[in-house]
Amino acid sequence: MKDTIRQLIQHALTRLTDEGVLPAGLTPAIQVENTKDKAHGDFASNIALMLAKPAGLKPRDLAQKLIEALPQDEQVSKVEIAGPGFLNFFQNSQALAERLEAALADDRLGVRKAGAAERVVVDLSSPNLAKEMHVGHLRSTIIGDAVARVLEFLGDEVIRQNHVGDWGTQFGMLLAYLEEQPAAAESELSDLEQFYRAAKKRFDESPEFADRARQLVVRLQAGDPDCLRLWHRFNDISLSHCQKVYDRLNVRLTPADVKGESAYNDELPGIVSALRDQGLLSESEGAQCVFLDEFRNAEGNPLPVIVQKAGGGYLYATTDLAAMRHRSEALHADRALYFVDQRQALHFQMAFEVARRAGFVHLGMRLEHMGFGTMNGPDGRPFKTRDGGTVKLIDLLDEAEQRAYALVRSKNPELDETELRQIARAVGIGAVKYADLSKHRTSDYSFNFEQMLSFEGNTAPYLLYAYTRVASVFRKLGRGMDDVEGHIQLEAEQEQALAARLAQFGEVLNAVGEKGVPHLLCGYLYDLAGLFSSFYEHCPILAAEQQAQKNSRLRLAALTGRTLKQGLELLGLETLERM
Ligand code: ARG
Repeated sequence: MKDTIRQLIQHALTRLTDEGVLPAGLTPAIQVENTKDKAHGDFASNIALMLAKPAGLKPRDLAQKLIEALPQDEQVSKVEIAGPGFLNFFQNSQALAERLEAALADDRLGVRKAGAAERVVVDLSSPNLAKEMHVGHLRSTIIGDAVARVLEFLGDEVIRQNHVGDWGTQFGMLLAYLEEQPAAAESELSDLEQFYRAAKKRFDESPEFADRARQLVVRLQAGDPDCLRLWHRFNDISLSHCQKVYDRLNVRLTPADVKGESAYNDELPGIVSALRDQGLLSESEGAQCVFLDEFRNAEGNPLPVIVQKAGGGYLYATTDLAAMRHRSEALHADRALYFVDQRQALHFQMAFEVARRAGFVHLGMRLEHMGFGTMNGPDGRPFKTRDGGTVKLIDLLDEAEQRAYALVRSKNPELDETELRQIARAVGIGAVKYADLSKHRTSDYSFNFEQMLSFEGNTAPYLLYAYTRVASVFRKLGRGMDDVEGHIQLEAEQEQALAARLAQFGEVLNAVGEKGVPHLLCGYLYDLAGLFSSFYEHCPILAAEQQAQKNSRLRLAALTGRTLKQGLELLGLETLERM
């Protein structure tokens, strides 16, 4: 709807420009917002206020001329001037009702992508395999997963890439330990964290062990079969730890999505020589660097992207350049989205720039760092265990489920154990994910079990419960949500408001996919649940007086239910029919 209105305004602007009312060459960004008070229509634009000055008119006068120049559209019933010169648009309820009926008849709820379908690489999760996944990987994993799901729903072809850290000097230490004490290692590997600590302890205590670790790195890099075997074994175990977390989180990642740093090893010398051939490389203290003029340090000197160390070793950035080239040349991606901590922003800005200059990615390819803020503890400080260690993701999920279990049992003691467990899982895991997804991607946030498990406010329990309320209407009726005849007729104010918001699902999903911000979808679903509540309160459904009205309300409820369910599923939440 906003797009339609923007187009109508654009037409009016062109007409007024042709007529000489507006000076030629204006290309304003036309803003259309939802109104808060439906007495002022459904949408508003400040375009007349923006253009009054260049037009040499009073805003209200320009608004009047715009209204006269607006083409007719069946979706708009009237347009009014408000306040200093806002344009208020009233949506035609008949046209709105027809749109919702079309959505009900469609598996994709009438949602279409605004532009052409694209092929999109989503770089997500990407933990370092040397250690067990910790809370820092939660955000990349679930935000990336939600955005990937939304893009797929919109019709894009998504290629997930789990760019795990499976290479580097730490592996020497781990392999040395694995080699030295196969038996002890075997049992400790079930707890990677402990294994890492034990290996590190050996490394710090014994210079001999440290030497062996360093030799193993060299042998590994030279492709020694024994080393490679150990390394594969270690990675397999570590990846299976990750896979457990993904499954537990209901995240769509499989072993097939893993393309770790090591996969690019053979490409690295070629990356450096390509940069050299293009004259982009300079040597600085023995290291091979690309200096970028537009990035400078505090002293005003250009910053380097180092691609090869003085000793010959390659770096994180070199691998990322190779990965970009692969994503462009082999995967033919139109976009590549990187869900990585905001603290790596400079790394990505610089690496993207080098890739462009070197022609590693095709001209039209969009490279986007979807950075995110830090997850802090309830006290607002970096999240740590009581003794100051990093929090393992799996422990966090266990606690979430336990708390949800206690909560659900206290509310609903008569539930049987199996159902209780199932609800606890959906609520507990859902709460952790939703609390994260509902915050703006780039801000830091505090992890707080009490808040995320509350049945009030913008939380998973609230939304899951809202969906069960819709489901219960249909259970009482003995019919499915797809199984209601009749037409939607929008009469009561609450029906109008709910309908108008339902019609915005596609627009919201397009924004989520374009900007990589799932919190917009959370906010939307939260609104929808609230609007459904007031509709439910004011407009009896099953007790409606006439059959036509009952059917209409049932259909509105059905579309609300399906939209909530679809929306939650796109966020990676499991929905429940009752709780
Ligand atoms: N392994 C890295 C880390 O844990 C994240 C990798 C992100 N992806 C990338 N293509 N650089 O910090």
